[in-house]
Amino acid sequence: MPMSTAREIFVHELSDTLSAENIIYKMLGQVVKETKLPPAQEAYQHHLDETKQHISNVEAAFKAIGEKPEKTTCLAADGLSKEHAALKEEKPKDHALELGLLGGAGKTEHYEIASYKLLVQMAKDLGETKAAALLQENLDQELAMSKTVEKLAKMVSADARKAVGSTMKKPASAGARKTPVAA
Ligand SMILES: [Fe+2]
Ligand SMILES: [Fe+2]
Repeated sequence: MPMSTAREIFVHELSDTLSAENIIYKMLGQVVKETKLPPAQEAYQHHLDETKQHISNVEAAFKAIGEKPEKTTCLAADGLSKEHAALKEEKPKDHALELGLLGGAGKTEHYEIASYKLLVQMAKDLGETKAAALLQENLDQELAMSKTVEKLAKMVSADARKAVGSTMKKPASAGARKTPVAA
């Protein structure tokens, strides 16, 4: 499809976001099973349910504007999913696992926030108020999830620091090297 007008770009970006949400839904379903941290698991599960709704909202936005999604793959979400796979290959445990998962979740939410901010603005500018409202719903939930992820990451990072601190030996002499910090 040619992309020479604002509307064509909007349809393309919306198609890209539909692909992203589908990739994220799959990834988040795995993350729910991988985390060992109850409050994180609750947050991921809640956002997994929201993500299902995000997909429906984007599909409803297509209907509202009378267009069909293009067949496309969101390369950014695909990349985030590959990073998640690479993290699993490292077999991190405890704090490292949780921080790795939260890091990925934070990046994913920020990508979604950037996407929806543009989509909401474009929908409004194109006079597509129904689509704008549906996309704003998604944006609000991405913003809330991003804050939750930040809070959880702060908590886990502080815990990791305490755990390292309690096992760290005092240097035997002035010239001794400090134990490397492993989160
Ligand atoms: Fe989403
Ligand atoms: Fe999200």
